[in-house]
Amino acid sequence: MAARKQQLAVVLLFLLGGVLSFPLGQDRKDALTCGYEVSYLYSFTALCFGLLLCVCSWSVFVCVQSCHATKPNMLNVHLVPHTHDDVGWLKTVDQYFYGDRNDIQHAGVQYILDSVVDQLLKNPDRRFIYVETAFFYRWWKQQSSSMQQTVRQLVNEGRLEFVNGGWCMSDEATTHYSAVIDQMTMGLRFLNETFGACGRPRVAWHIDPFGHAREHASMFAQMGYDGFFFGRLDYQDRARRMMAKEQELLWRASDSLTPPVADLFTGILPNGYNPPEGFCWDQSCDDPPIRDDPDLEDYNVDDVVKRFMAIAENQALVYKTNHIIMTMGSDFQYENANLWYKNLDKLIRYVNGLQSNSSKVNVLYSTPSCYLQELHRANLTWALKTDDFFPYADSAHDFWTGYFTSRPALKRYERISNSNLQTCNQLEVLGGPVSRKGPFGGGDSQTMKKAMAVAQHHDAVSGTEKQHVANDYARKLASGWQHCQVFQSLLFWWDVVSEHFTFLRTLYIPTLVSMILSVSVALIQFSVSVYNPLARPVTWPVRLPVNGTAYTVSDANGKPVDCQVSFAVNELVFQVQAPPLGYSTYSVSLLQDGSPPTSTQHRTPTVIQNKFLKVTFDPDTGLLSSLSNLETQQSIKLTQNFYWLVYNASDGNNSLSIQPSGAYIFRPNSSTPFIISSTAQTESIQVRRELVIYTLVQEVRQWFSPWVSQVVRLYADSRALELEWTVGPVPIDDSLGKEVITRLDTSIQTGEYFYTDSNGREMLQRKKDFRPTWQLKQSEPIAGNYYPINSRAFIKDDVDQLTVVTDRSQGGGSIHNGSLEIMLHRRLLYDDVRGVAEPLNETSDIFPEGLVVRGRLLLSLDRPPSAADAHRPLAQEVVLQPLLTFTDGDLNPNTRLEFSGLQAALPPAVHLLTLSQWDKDSVLLRLEHQFQSWESKVNSQPVTVNLQKLFSTLDVLGMSELNLSANQWKDEMKRFDWTPQKGTGRPNLPLTSLQ
Ligand SMILES: *[C@@H]1O[C@H](CO)[C@@H](O)[C@H](O)[C@H]1NC(C)=O
Ligand SMILES: *[C@@H]1O[C@H](CO)[C@@H](O)[C@H](O)[C@H]1NC(C)=O
Ligand SMILES: [Zn+2]
Repeated sequence: MAARKQQLAVVLLFLLGGVLSFPLGQDRKDALTCGYEVSYLYSFTALCFGLLLCVCSWSVFVCVQSCHATKPNMLNVHLVPHTHDDVGWLKTVDQYFYGDRNDIQHAGVQYILDSVVDQLLKNPDRRFIYVETAFFYRWWKQQSSSMQQTVRQLVNEGRLEFVNGGWCMSDEATTHYSAVIDQMTMGLRFLNETFGACGRPRVAWHIDPFGHAREHASMFAQMGYDGFFFGRLDYQDRARRMMAKEQELLWRASDSLTPPVADLFTGILPNGYNPPEGFCWDQSCDDPPIRDDPDLEDYNVDDVVKRFMAIAENQALVYKTNHIIMTMGSDFQYENANLWYKNLDKLIRYVNGLQSNSSKVNVLYSTPSCYLQELHRANLTWALKTDDFFPYADSAHDFWTGYFTSRPALKRYERISNSNLQTCNQLEVLGGPVSRKGPFGGGDSQTMKKAMAVAQHHDAVSGTEKQHVANDYARKLASGWQHCQVFQSLLFWWDVVSEHFTFLRTLYIPTLVSMILSVSVALIQFSVSVYNPLARPVTWPVRLPVNGTAYTVSDANGKPVDCQVSFAVNELVFQVQAPPLGYSTYSVSLLQDGSPPTSTQHRTPTVIQNKFLKVTFDPDTGLLSSLSNLETQQSIKLTQNFYWLVYNASDGNNSLSIQPSGAYIFRPNSSTPFIISSTAQTESIQVRRELVIYTLVQEVRQWFSPWVSQVVRLYADSRALELEWTVGPVPIDDSLGKEVITRLDTSIQTGEYFYTDSNGREMLQRKKDFRPTWQLKQSEPIAGNYYPINSRAFIKDDVDQLTVVTDRSQGGGSIHNGSLEIMLHRRLLYDDVRGVAEPLNETSDIFPEGLVVRGRLLLSLDRPPSAADAHRPLAQEVVLQPLLTFTDGDLNPNTRLEFSGLQAALPPAVHLLTLSQWDKDSVLLRLEHQFQSWESKVNSQPVTVNLQKLFSTLDVLGMSELNLSANQWKDEMKRFDWTPQKGTGRPNLPLTSLQ
């Protein structure tokens, strides 16, 4: 604590002497040289300061080292009292906080915290850890200042310890790294500002997520965590690790960062996150309490102690050191903490009492960081792991690979909300103080930040919550949109806004992810502003629903822009360009007597083509048949079709297991998928299709069945082919649930390999029926080969690489040579018995017959050595997409029609990940080198960015480098170092050699 404040004082001295100026046109001050080298996939986080006001109080207390002493010649059992509080699952996050709707599940987090604090005060030996800051924050706000002081004391003394500390415990399969970093930053910032250094978690704690992503480990390492613990992994993997004593390991989580930057010590907990059998003393459990009065009935101390010793000794057999950990708690436990602590006090007393009698077992109250400290002291070497922990199976036919796709509309809404939040954050910085006032009372990004943070929870974006809870997450995001929206529309005119804001009538077209856009713009004259949140210019097709037949469109310089109206769908299409971190405004007017656009139509198209790509269709089936890249002169056979898989309860072939597909689990009981077609005979499939050719875009519309259709779209100057799929309502009148996939079958010789991204960042190699760290016995030929795809996947051989960029997280696999399949939508009629207790059977007011979902896949065909140069930027344009705002009528003549927040675009290798107002005078900036070290000849090189010359409206007066989560100065980040065991871990994957 004390050291940190001194450092802060140094930063202050360093910075004094200037102010950060916002207005345009003012001379820039040259204060500091902020050139910074950004290396491979390294996220550089910095606070750029203007005038930094000291918000710190010079506190006198320091964190005391509070771990209980252990005994070197004994087996030390670390009891970790804890509660696992889901930030929404069967109940909404607020229902869980208050303990509302206990008819659904008995759980009330406010009572848990009340009760635990009370019990900690009764005995200074007791310990507790708390994890989810979303709940702790709600509770803290309601406490008196004397209670807050008491809790601060408990934290300073290490009796209450924060672990993980993010707003929630994020899902690892379906989240994007950008949103995970944001939610961690928000939770850790609250802890830092409330408790200082003593509140900084040392340990990452993902006890419940259903499989573990390598990118999460990399992020945790860069956030300064010393170690990571989790509960769930594949049952075969666990069995082998128990035998080999490799349940504690060193995870090398990046193949690009120099060790130990992304090394993370990882521990697998002994019993998920539950207490050992027979030792659950919560009010929700039925295990016998310790009855220790010999004068009363059923005295059981000897029995309890004997059972406990046996469990401890058995557990010690499968771990490496003379320290073991036991998680004493579970879901929403400790609402009446007295029950737990009273019995744990006794357990410790009676077990340790036997030490005088030559027992070698020592039990103590502990925390994950105290346990980790002992493992570190043991000074051993640890098995190295370089792949990830997907997919997760808890037994032979129970693969948790369905949730990769569950609730596809929520997954898209979450993804696009992230894009919107980043825009909102950027505009708060670029717009200057005026943007933070908000004349309409709106204009704050906090609502959206919180909504996005809870949406990262492992039962939120994962799609594994009850329907009413999914609705609550969506409602929270929508409310976040509302707050940012008013403010975004204002900001585009921020220089004239004070006089004119009342004249601005902003039309807002919500991006309806789960539904077909049905809003019509029925205007004579309007303008469209396109804000681009990327740090490089983008060109982007805009499609607006309109009512007229012909329009003129002109850009910010008044130059006419090619545009056209597509009749079939009443859409106005034109191409926009937006500068880096800025906007450009286009005016649109209806031509009263304009002639309809020229287009040609074909009923049975066989080819579409632009200057980059050529796409052919089979004349008989109507399906895609080949894809060629005209620049690189490569061509592949490519067939695409839609199928469904299902668990059919009445299928005779269920002898192996009766596990059905559900929100979590994917369990088709036939590995042959059914072709989706309107004709009965699946052999002679004929897709009804038509081609419409305009100057700007060529579209082949395909109808596979009444509930599956697609538009194959090729824009005039695009290097990617767009497949816009629409699926639903998935029919259930045959009493079968359905899991809808699309499959791309190509002539690429994939040899059982394919590649998926990890949380949208580094790529991982996948091999069919294979796991890098153990001998797999494959029991589910499809579900056991599915992996999460967050933003892209590819298949390749020596000459061709086909990359598919997705618009949300989805599950996918490569089951056959040359093929890549992606699951798009699921509608299921059974619960999969993992707790949610509802079939995943989504409907809505607009779609009472079953949810209709629409999305896009972008395909690009490249030569493998340079494919990343194409697909990284492409994926990014889908993640951070331009935001449109509309103004009716003529614009005020003073309106600024074009603006860029940067002096120049960043180099292609550098991504501006975060630009967000931190406090009054400083902003949080994250720059990221986005190429893996082996990925691109050109773009994998180190890059230097001059921070002083970065922004057009901000003068950078100074900067301090922080860890990835911005809760520690970079130069103070000291992590435990761990030694890998020789000969373990596979060498880093040379996915593509650069020669
Ligand atoms: C479309 O335009 C016509 C006239 O051009 C108008 O009568 C009609 O109300 C408009 N429809 C909508 C939905 O605005
Ligand atoms: C699925 O939803 C439909 C439409 O609401 C309903 O009719 C049907 O009973 C539901 N089926 C199950 C198993 O929940
Ligand atoms: Zn959970």
